[in-house]
Amino acid sequence: MMSTISTMLTWLILNAHAGGVNSYNYTTAQNYLEEVSYVYGTAPTFEDVTFYRPLLDQTDTLNVNLTMRIYSLNGFDDVTGQIEIAGSLEMTWTDEVLDGVLFEDNTNIKDSIVLPYSNIWTPTIVLVNDVNSIEKIGSSDYRPRYTFSTNRVEWKVRVILKGSCEPDVTYYPFDQQTCSYIFTSWYYNNTQISLMMSKDTWDTSLYENNSVWSLEETKAETFTSNGYEYANFTIVIQRQYLYFVFNIVLPILLLSATNGFVFLLPVESGERVGFSIMCFLSIVVLLQTTMQFLPESSIQMSLLCYYLVLMMVSSAILVIVNILMMRVYLKSSDNKVPKVLQTFVSILTCTICKKCSKKVSAQDEDKSIDGDEDVTETEVKWPAVAKVLDIFLFLAFLGGQAALTFFFLLPLGLRA
Ligand SMILES: *[C@@H]1O[C@H](CO)[C@@H](O)[C@H](O)[C@H]1NC(C)=O
Ligand SMILES: *[C@@H]1O[C@H](CO)[C@@H](O)[C@H](O)[C@H]1NC(C)=O
Ligand SMILES: *[C@@H]1O[C@H](CO)[C@@H](O)[C@H](O)[C@H]1NC(C)=O
Ligand SMILES: *[C@@H]1O[C@H](CO)[C@@H](O)[C@H](O)[C@H]1NC(C)=O
Ligand SMILES: *[C@@H]1O[C@H](CO)[C@@H](O)[C@H](O)[C@H]1NC(C)=O
Repeated sequence: MMSTISTMLTWLILNAHAGGVNSYNYTTAQNYLEEVSYVYGTAPTFEDVTFYRPLLDQTDTLNVNLTMRIYSLNGFDDVTGQIEIAGSLEMTWTDEVLDGVLFEDNTNIKDSIVLPYSNIWTPTIVLVNDVNSIEKIGSSDYRPRYTFSTNRVEWKVRVILKGSCEPDVTYYPFDQQTCSYIFTSWYYNNTQISLMMSKDTWDTSLYENNSVWSLEETKAETFTSNGYEYANFTIVIQRQYLYFVFNIVLPILLLSATNGFVFLLPVESGERVGFSIMCFLSIVVLLQTTMQFLPESSIQMSLLCYYLVLMMVSSAILVIVNILMMRVYLKSSDNKVPKVLQTFVSILTCTICKKCSKKVSAQDEDKSIDGDEDVTETEVKWPAVAKVLDIFLFLAFLGGQAALTFFFLLPLGLRA
């Protein structure tokens, strides 16, 4: 089959010159093709000829150069992992058959002409990771331009590409996404059609900025797999985080800072438990809101979500601790403070707040003397215990939150 085509094309060339086809004339070419109808058995048409790669020797490799031009980024969906861009794909190749075979040998003509799509061979390039189309790139709406002097054909087609992409939201909302568009030439393996890149980046000269994502980097490279050649166009985009910082990160930080202050609320106000439950609910709401923007995947979660989940847990613990603290405050003085708790409190007052320990113990002594004059050594009472514990828990929770923030949000901050 291949040799038949080669023979035919060679025959076409020889006869083109011998027969003296010397004007650019479709009719002539058509008549000429009819003369060689015996190759096909029926009269060959332009379509017959343009079905074969435009090479005089069909065993050669045809190089197709690709350039991607991006006009805008239409959107990136974290949840489904789809990226959509509007741009154009420019394909260029050498057509050895047009000049001298189908037309007169017009090497002297510097002009280029726009040919009807059906009269010229065009490559069948498809986007492998397309999510909503199985069609080849380009259609009859776009006409190839042929330059006589160089035999180059240039075909620029508009594309709206919706590709699949694996979102990486670990550093949300300071994340960067890397997505690739993989093209291949359908039907033809790498010995028949070789895809090449005109340059190793995309053409971004006409790019219009997107309000959510900024274009960081573009790459273009080719690779071969299983005897087929693929073009890999990669785009790296960075989320513009200002909106998310104000809407998500800032409320989370403020809430985590406020949480521990419940221990400073006077017990008499009776609002401690209410306050801590409100904090808990606020965190749950924030968690829900944040999760909405992120993929429903258990493979990898955002650091921010881990942080929020830990915040939620610590907030739940805060509720429980507060309820217990209320019981400590309101314990009747009949119940003696257990020795363990007493030593614990005295350790706290002596070691942790060395400076204020004198004041506190002095006050305690005053009170205990007031209450029970028999006791000469300091005997701690429930409200005093509760007060010390409040300070201790306040500092502990604040420290805990600070540590959590440090471990989870610092990596995020560094990304920004
Ligand atoms: C094209 O070729 C046909 C057949 O040879 C001829 O009749 C016709 O005049 C030619 N047209 C032009 C524009 O040269
Ligand atoms: C096609 O790409 C190759 C390799 O990048 C380059 O050498 C060649 O000049 C390109 N051809 C055209 C017509 O752009
Ligand atoms: C697009 O953004 C870049 C950098 O963020 C900036 O330099 C450029 O001026 C912006 N272009 C337009 C048209 O706003
Ligand atoms: C490519 O296809 C041609 C024709 O079908 C075949 O002869 C050749 O062996 C193939 N090459 C590879 C690397 O598969
Ligand atoms: C495409 O190129 C990017 C960037 O070089 C690379 O990370 C990715 O793995 C490539 N894709 C394939 C399928 O080779």
